[in-house]
Amino acid sequence: MTTRESSDALVFFGITGDLAYKKIFPALQALVARDRLNVPVIGVARSQFSDAELVDRARASITEHDTLDPVAFQKLTGLLGHVWGNYTDPETFVRLRERLGNATRPLFYLAVPPSLFPVVVKNLADSGCTKGARIVIEKPFGRDLASARALNAQLTTIFPETSIFRIDHYLGKEAVQNLMYFRFANNFLEPLWNRHYVDNVQITMAESMGVAGRGAFYDETGVIRDVIQNHLLQIISYIAMEAPSSTWTEAIRDEQAKVLRTIRPLSTDALVRGQFRGYRDEPGVAANSKVPTFAALQLAIDSWRWEGVPFFIRAGKALEASRTDVVVEFKQPPPVVFPQAAPRGANYVRFRLSPDVAIDLGAYTKVPGEGMSGQPVELSVVAGTRQGVGTRLGAYERLIGDAMIGDATLFARQDVVEAAWAIVDPVISDDGPLRQYEPGSWGPPEADALVAAAGGWAPPR
Ligand code: BG6
Repeated sequence: MTTRESSDALVFFGITGDLAYKKIFPALQALVARDRLNVPVIGVARSQFSDAELVDRARASITEHDTLDPVAFQKLTGLLGHVWGNYTDPETFVRLRERLGNATRPLFYLAVPPSLFPVVVKNLADSGCTKGARIVIEKPFGRDLASARALNAQLTTIFPETSIFRIDHYLGKEAVQNLMYFRFANNFLEPLWNRHYVDNVQITMAESMGVAGRGAFYDETGVIRDVIQNHLLQIISYIAMEAPSSTWTEAIRDEQAKVLRTIRPLSTDALVRGQFRGYRDEPGVAANSKVPTFAALQLAIDSWRWEGVPFFIRAGKALEASRTDVVVEFKQPPPVVFPQAAPRGANYVRFRLSPDVAIDLGAYTKVPGEGMSGQPVELSVVAGTRQGVGTRLGAYERLIGDAMIGDATLFARQDVVEAAWAIVDPVISDDGPLRQYEPGSWGPPEADALVAAAGGWAPPR
C-alpha cells in the first residue's frame, strides 16, 4: 500500500450505463458497508434521471446482482449525487466543478466509449477539475499497439502515469490474486516451476453465453481484444513472472512487464479463430462479420525459465460451459520404477478461477490391492464463491477502493499494456481462416489439433 492521500470524491462517468448497473453499484454498497467509502459519489451521464430514479436504479442493480444491505444502501444514497449533460459540452464540466464543492482530490472513473476519452479529459482539464485528481479508465486501452500509445499520449498530457488507473477487473479477482499468492507464499512449487518440469500450460476462459445484447460492441472488438490481450495475458504474467523483489506496486508490475516482453509475437500458424453459428444474426452484428468469437493460440516465452514450454490459451463465447481455469501440466516421471507411472497430463496444478475458486493437484496413486498399478486422484482446496458484503471482496470493490487510496498494484501499467499489445498485434487484423463452430460445443476442432502434440486440452473439472 502507498501512503498517498485518499481521493475526496468519486465521479463516475456513465452512471446510467451497463457497467454501473452490473458491477459498480454493488461495489459501492460493499465499499460503504466496509467503511471504505465515505465521500461524495457523483454520477455523470447524458440521461436525465430524477434523484429518485437514480436511487431506484441503484437499488435495482444491487438487488439483481448482490444483496441489498439496508443500512449501507441508505448511507450510499446519502453520498450519491449527479450531473447530467453531454460529455462534449464544456458546460457539463463547469457544473461538475461546482458540484465537487470543496473536493480537491477527486477520482474520475470513465466508463464511456474510448472515442470519448480525449474530449472528457480535455473538458475536465479546462474546467479546473484535474488538479490533484486521479483517473480510472475502463478497457479497451486502444485497439492495437499504435492506438494504445496514442491514447496514452493524450492521457499523459493531463495526468501523470501515477494518477492513471487502467482497470482490468481480472486483476481484482480473489482467485487471480491467489495465483500469485500461491506461487510466492509457498516453497514447494518453485523448484518445479520451469522448463525442466513443466510440460505445458493451458488457460481456458469459456463462456456459455453468446454476446447477449452487446453485439455492436463485440463486433468492433472480437475475442482477442475483449479478453485475451488484457485478462488472459495478465493471468499469464502472474503464472510466468519471476519473483518480484517486494510487494511494492512497481516491483510486481516490473516483473509483469518483463515477462510479457519475453513472449514471442503471435504468428497466424499458432492461432485458430472461430465464430459461433448464429453470431451474424445477433442484433448489432454485421451480416458478413469476420470477427472471431473464439480463439485458441499457442504462445512461446523466450526466457531462461520457460524456453520450449508451450503456453496455450483458448477463449470463446457460446461454448459448452462457463469456466475459467489455468492448468500447469508437469512432465511425466521416467517409467523406470513403475512402468505404469503417471501418464501424460496426470500430474498438474489446476487453478480454478471461476465459477468456483479452487486449486487442484493432480497425482497418480496406487490402486489398493496386490498389484502395483496406479489411478488418477485429485487433491482440491476449494473456497466459497459468494462475493459482496461480509465475504470476500468483489473485483470492482477491491479495485475502486485501491484507486481511491492511490494503490496501483492491481492496475495495468502502460508498459504492461503495450507489451501485451505487441504480442497480439501481428494477428489482430488477421483475415485468415475463421472456423464456424456450433453453440454449446468446445469451439472448432482445429483448436484441438493445436494442442494435440501436447496431449490435448486438459479435461474440464
Ligand atoms: C469482460 C468482457 O471484460 O469480461 C466480457 O468484455 C466478458 O465479454 C467478461 O464476458 C467476463 O468477466 P467475468 O468476470 O464474468 O469472468
